[in-house]
Amino acid sequence: MKRSPRSIRSRHISRTNENSRFVINGLGGKRALSGEVIIGGAKNAALKLMAASVLFKNKVILENVPEIEDIKRMSDLLNAIGVVVSKKKTGVYDLRVGRRCSTSLLDDISKRFRASIVLSGPLLARFGKVSFPHPGGCLIGERPIDIFLDGFRKMGAQIKESKGRYLFTATGGTLTGTTIHMRQQSVTATETFMMAGVLASGETVIKNASLEPEIEDLAKFLIDGGASITGIGTTTIRICGGGLLTALSPHRVLPDRIEAGSYLILAALAGKDVKITNCNPWHLELLIELLRDSGVGIVVSGDTVTVTGEQGTLKSFDLKTHEYPGFPTDLQAPMTVFLTQTEGEGKVFETIFEGRLGYAEALASMGADIIAMDAHRIIVKGPSSLHGKTLESPDLRAGLAFVIAAIIAKGISIIHNVYNIDRGYDHVEKKLRAIGVDIKRLR
Ligand code: EPZ
Repeated sequence: MKRSPRSIRSRHISRTNENSRFVINGLGGKRALSGEVIIGGAKNAALKLMAASVLFKNKVILENVPEIEDIKRMSDLLNAIGVVVSKKKTGVYDLRVGRRCSTSLLDDISKRFRASIVLSGPLLARFGKVSFPHPGGCLIGERPIDIFLDGFRKMGAQIKESKGRYLFTATGGTLTGTTIHMRQQSVTATETFMMAGVLASGETVIKNASLEPEIEDLAKFLIDGGASITGIGTTTIRICGGGLLTALSPHRVLPDRIEAGSYLILAALAGKDVKITNCNPWHLELLIELLRDSGVGIVVSGDTVTVTGEQGTLKSFDLKTHEYPGFPTDLQAPMTVFLTQTEGEGKVFETIFEGRLGYAEALASMGADIIAMDAHRIIVKGPSSLHGKTLESPDLRAGLAFVIAAIIAKGISIIHNVYNIDRGYDHVEKKLRAIGVDIKRLR
């Protein structure tokens, strides 16, 4: 029987929480939160590690995988092409390439998250072809894929585009190592070329590579499986192509620095004694320094960052997003909420994505004093008293910024479209309730 697209879709898309909303009773500026927030594994590492399972000849085991919607989508996408993903227990997943593997990624799942594009590297490298639609993800800018197209062409792939789908075919069935000098640093392109290079013939050199810690985690996983990769943590990465990899032991996903940073900002605003545990403070260095300089009491010890409240008036500062180790664009929206509570004027300059300040209008409707300069810049004057509001979560990080704003505001806020927050934050209301936030999820 020929299956309709609808039945294929329903077989592979697991249940989502798309109709949820949060109801938050704000603290009205009081510092009342206390307790511990345990940080989960990094979304932007786990998704790539799952894609990398295609490069292995045996089963891989991933631990500390966050329980979030994007991981469900990646599991759906992999299962649909014949990579068997099994959840063993909370945070532990087995992945194994089945005997028959398709190289055609389903449209509607791929269009739901940007990380779907990283599968192009391992599939093309292993099977000599891959087809997929333009990847989806948060609406934070144009998000083109030209760097991917240029790099794969250089590695010897033929590229066709028709009816919104791309088809990449490796000439002679194998990619060829080459030098790819990226015109701009791109996290997912660095990861995709690194994975492709593992099975390409000869040496692949990625110049102007990204430096994000999640890339290092992926490289470690590949090297442990037998890949030859050098230069990680620098802007020139060299991969010497070889055969399929062999997983010898489980890989533990590194802690999510963006989740940790988001809770740290919340604690800086409303905490009297909040511990953020199971994180890597090295990856939060700049954030911690900015918060301390602003007047927040922070103690770092081992894998724990403790916020002990403010020390005097919080001072404003200017913020400019930058590739790692600069200030992460993924913490820009939560940090803007912080600036609404500081004394003075702070400029926020979003340099990575052109559509990532759209949430500012909603913050202004809560009482924040924000002036929009252009698509990349706003000025935040503070401190302002925020009041509860009904909001729509526009994307993952802005959604969490609204949650933070709602917690410090006076009165009730309702945040719709919680799916966007669930895409990247593990058990968000459970973690918030544990430190004293009055939050309910309504379905
Ligand atoms: C990754 O996106 C993350 N996503 C993003 O996380 C993060 O905001 C971003 O890196 C920057 O740190 C994943 O890892 C799945 P880029 P990515 O390619 O790789 C331009 C979150 O909330 N560009 O490094 O897609 C692009 O438009 C998110 O978890 C091209 O022009 O970002 C941007 O201006 C959202 N052509 C810049 O490069 C290309 O072919 C950097 O983007 C590719 C990118």
